Amino acid sequence: MPKDRTISAEEMAQQKDYINKIKQMTDARETKPLAFVETYGCQQNSSDSEKLKGMLDEMGFGFCESPKEADFVLYNTCAVRENAELKVFGNIGALKHQKRRNPELMVGVCGCMMQQPHIAETIRKKYTHVDLCFGTHALYRFPQLLYDVMKKQRVFDNANEDGSIFEDVAYHRDGPPLAKIPIMYGCNNYCTYCIVPYVRGRERSRDKEHILAEVRAVAAEGYKEVMLLGQNVNSYGNDLADGLSFAQLLREVCRVDGIERVRFMTSHPKDLSDELIAAMAEEEKICKQLHLPIQSGSDRVLKLMNRKYTRAQYMELIRKVRERMPDIVLTTDIIVGFPGETNEDFEETLSVLKEVAYDSIFSFIYSKRVGTPAASMEDCLTDEEKHQNFDRMLALQNEISKRKNDMYLNTVQRVLTEGVSKTDAAVLTGRTEGGKVVNFAGDTALCGRFVDVKITKTQTWSLFGECL
Ligand code: SAH
Ligand code: SF4
Ligand code: F3S
Repeated sequence: MPKDRTISAEEMAQQKDYINKIKQMTDARETKPLAFVETYGCQQNSSDSEKLKGMLDEMGFGFCESPKEADFVLYNTCAVRENAELKVFGNIGALKHQKRRNPELMVGVCGCMMQQPHIAETIRKKYTHVDLCFGTHALYRFPQLLYDVMKKQRVFDNANEDGSIFEDVAYHRDGPPLAKIPIMYGCNNYCTYCIVPYVRGRERSRDKEHILAEVRAVAAEGYKEVMLLGQNVNSYGNDLADGLSFAQLLREVCRVDGIERVRFMTSHPKDLSDELIAAMAEEEKICKQLHLPIQSGSDRVLKLMNRKYTRAQYMELIRKVRERMPDIVLTTDIIVGFPGETNEDFEETLSVLKEVAYDSIFSFIYSKRVGTPAASMEDCLTDEEKHQNFDRMLALQNEISKRKNDMYLNTVQRVLTEGVSKTDAAVLTGRTEGGKVVNFAGDTALCGRFVDVKITKTQTWSLFGECL
């Protein structure tokens, strides 16, 4: 039998008590205290932030758009690359003066970075204006931790645990039409460059009934599209007794009325099954879009990365996917400059990009992560060579992306309108089924609705069109 990783009802009731205690404290104030919550990293982290904000809602907090107006600043951090960490340290450092001027300000840091012992130690010693520091495993204890902070204690909760799941939490979601639904947490894959398994714990799947209840609930609230989240969604259910596969779960999600589009992130190539490809092809609601990280085109490097597939196996997946869904939008992740990567290895990555012709890629220069196996591997290339390779790759991909987008010219796309453009209030922005961003002029009343848009102009990263 799988270990029951769900936090018990008693423990959740205890946290509820802390929520109520804090609510009494905030109710006693003349005005609502304001929280500023900023999120770094992946969709998983933004989903966690929706839970943290949900708890803050219940505790009587309001929200503000800048740390300057806040009574409580919370950074939910990402540890995947060094630049993400540096940004967080910069932002925490910047609060030092504000805290000196206003000692009542509460400063909190949480998320993946804080699950690393050396980072928590740095915060403890060098960032003494931080009141609250907790890792991913302590998320459900947030009410208790914040209560202690409000009672003027400095709180650290970074214990390493296997990882748990907690249900029955009120989300403060980003508005319709898109809802993020976590279906599993953690990762067991231990790619040699990656910190995620160390900061997120072992793979654990949510119970199917909890997931479906959540999908039904967001449908009732008017959400039209769900994004099912996990570090490796293809291994959903491996740890559960009921044996439901990810493909079966997807089909059940498609049966929920009101939800018109279903997406998921991320698929590991080693676990992408024929059953999943069939479900994608057959279910109309599943968007014809697949993010399938390859990381490198060289078998030697893939082996060093512990990715457990070869280039040929990966290409066979792409062939099968395209055979069933010829127009599918494909994206990937690539790491440039992995330790031991040579210029010849890099050429193989370029040749994969040409061969697959992805719609777009997410590319990163390798960043050394403390405690991962790759951190002690020998480097072959200089930083300069890595940057040169990176730039060459971007130039190649930009050409491919533009060519791919050009194919949409004069077609009519069904677009789910997400909101108003950040740069122009008269322009709406939305996505095609394949996940491509489309900008078009239109009335804000269209937000959250499906519209047919004729594509009149294309760029590398987005499409432009006219609402029909
Ligand atoms: N679980 C997902 C994504 C995890 S992190 C997956 O397996 O695909 C997102 C991306 O960050 C990874 O796909 C990888 O390309 C990149 N990444 C992870 N660790 C990195 C590191 N140490 N340096 C550079 N990029 C990294
Ligand atoms: Fe990291 Fe690999 Fe797990 Fe993705 S599959 S989260 S890259 S260890
Ligand atoms: Fe970053 Fe944690 Fe996601 S390390 S990429 S926020 S799982």
